[in-house]
Amino acid sequence: MSQGVGETIDSLLREGRVFHPPKELVETSNVKAFMDRHGIGSYEELLERARDIEWFWSEMVKEVGIEWFEEPKKVLEWNPPYVKWFVGAKYNIVHDAVDKQARIRKNKVAYIWEGEPGEVRKITYGELYNEVNRLANVLKALGVGRGDRVTIWLPMVPELPIAMLACAKIGAIHSVVFSGFSERALLDRIQDSRAKLLITADGFYRNGKVIELKSRADKVLGEAPSIENVIVLERIGLDGIDMKRGRDYWWHEIIKGHSRHCDTEVMDANDLLFILYTSGTTGKPKGVMHAHGGYAVGTAATLKFIFDLKEDDIWWCSADIGWITGHSYIVYGPLILGVTQVMYEGAPLYPEPDRWWSIIERYGVTVFYTAPTAIRMFMRLGEKWPARHDLSTLRLLGTVGEPINPEAWVWYYKYIGGERCPIMDTWWQTETGMQMISPLPITPLKPGSATKPFPGIEADVYDPNGNSLYKKNVGGYLVIKKPWPAMLRGLWNAEEKYIKTYWSMFEGIYFTGDAARVDEDGYFWIQGRLDDVLKVSGHRIGNSEVESALVSHPAVSEAAVVGKPHEIKGEAIVAFIVLRSGYEPSEGLKQELREHVAREIGKIARPDEIYFVTDLPKTRSGKIMRRVCRAVLLGMDPGDVSTLANPEAVDVIRGAVGR
Ligand code: WT7
Repeated sequence: MSQGVGETIDSLLREGRVFHPPKELVETSNVKAFMDRHGIGSYEELLERARDIEWFWSEMVKEVGIEWFEEPKKVLEWNPPYVKWFVGAKYNIVHDAVDKQARIRKNKVAYIWEGEPGEVRKITYGELYNEVNRLANVLKALGVGRGDRVTIWLPMVPELPIAMLACAKIGAIHSVVFSGFSERALLDRIQDSRAKLLITADGFYRNGKVIELKSRADKVLGEAPSIENVIVLERIGLDGIDMKRGRDYWWHEIIKGHSRHCDTEVMDANDLLFILYTSGTTGKPKGVMHAHGGYAVGTAATLKFIFDLKEDDIWWCSADIGWITGHSYIVYGPLILGVTQVMYEGAPLYPEPDRWWSIIERYGVTVFYTAPTAIRMFMRLGEKWPARHDLSTLRLLGTVGEPINPEAWVWYYKYIGGERCPIMDTWWQTETGMQMISPLPITPLKPGSATKPFPGIEADVYDPNGNSLYKKNVGGYLVIKKPWPAMLRGLWNAEEKYIKTYWSMFEGIYFTGDAARVDEDGYFWIQGRLDDVLKVSGHRIGNSEVESALVSHPAVSEAAVVGKPHEIKGEAIVAFIVLRSGYEPSEGLKQELREHVAREIGKIARPDEIYFVTDLPKTRSGKIMRRVCRAVLLGMDPGDVSTLANPEAVDVIRGAVGR
């Protein structure tokens, strides 16, 4: 990094400088136009007026052009912890995302897709409509209907949004499983949701290699009796794919002869649209549920106001659709707004570290949304890679997934945004469905802060007794005090867990699981997870999920998994393992255990470091104290260990990590 930037960063950190968005951006922004129409003179006034959430979200319905089949009778019904939005409305999100667009934006490109090997496909809204309908007709012919679950295990290809939309169109509930997860993780999710159909592909490209999907799904489908049929997309053209007669169909064959027209199922606005599994504090991921109506309004409104998308923008969200970011901001939000977007299949550094910057230049991307972990990786590789490309079309940038350190913020601002583009640091979660705390293009920015709650969102920070720490600049529990349209509708088959996880800390108040502080100016600074959930490259991984994977290996008797700060990934995974008798510690075994976790969950959950120990610190009731392991690992004071059943285990950990 050059001398100059080093100085900027130092002075920035010292001064706590505030970055003001360019005047022109502010003046021409969607949010400013909204304020002008409503005679709202300032950001503060906007936030104040939006405290009337029924008024604000009704306005957002108009703002993003939602077309109900039947108007709602009531905006909101709130019986904590259960919410209904746009009560009584008849609706289907596919109407706004696809059907309507095929009418008004028929020849406009919806997706510019680039495969990792370099092929390009442009799909217009008219074509998207045809493909969604043909697949929807196939699903119906296979007996899939309203409320049925369909598991989708597809890579980043246009058929992924097509498959999701086809499900939604006929009222089926999709459950997308990230293509980087293992087949065991796929099986867990199929079994939990009792899905009737699986949509997958032969494989996909990643870093120049082929990753197989169908052949791996076959290894577990024997344990998934709920699956009646499998639709297989031919992405690669792999030989020797085993197609089970009467169960498996090639996508391109089965859609033959199916009509390009399919009626959109008239749903209730509060009917379920999808389930998306996310890691929690137990070994078993939880199925977060979202509904058609509120989710449509929440995702489209945030995208329109925060990322300021207009008719001629080229939007690129680099996330994978397998996570909530892709569901909300590659599939539903952008399609409802009718924008053109870029979608890229492969790895960011393939074949060279300038692939992303080359994509931005070639397609003239105007608004770009990515993760802090990616920015830190590019920062490491140096500014010569973005410098090879003309990135001057960019006008706004964004990040999501974890706190962004001011150093990465400034690098992104300078080398990607050319010091012109404000950075929207958006805080939200799988559960919130939409961006919740984020700047708008009119917000003065403080690097490292997600700034203020979106209009209509009432966030706060509480002490353990439920007293507000607002503007006190002291860390506490990040909570949301009023419902929001894209709020989760519960956890699939786990109502008690829903109540316990989110609603039991403070009565009637949503607890996010995060720690945060609010400074004197009302800016939110997110400090990270308070529960036993790791954030590895912005992805959530439960400590106990990795531990359960480890103890399922015959060599492992007990495991404690903790996080450790990592320069690029944010957090690295460290496992302390007690072996069963008869097994000896070795480098080979470490490697085998790492691979075992990759097989059980996916490569992202593979431990970075493994320590073999003879004992783990435990409470008298036998609970393993991860907190103590982590403190010793990081060279911190493990606190009072006198209540441990085996205080001597602390020295065992010390010895293992060399502290
Ligand atoms: C958790 C949610 C939302 C899509 C991607 C992650 C952390 C998310 C930020 C941010 C600080 C952030 C929180 C949150 N997080 N965005 N801008 N600043 N932390 O979704 O996997 O459901 O994870 O990600 O800890 O609770 P997720």
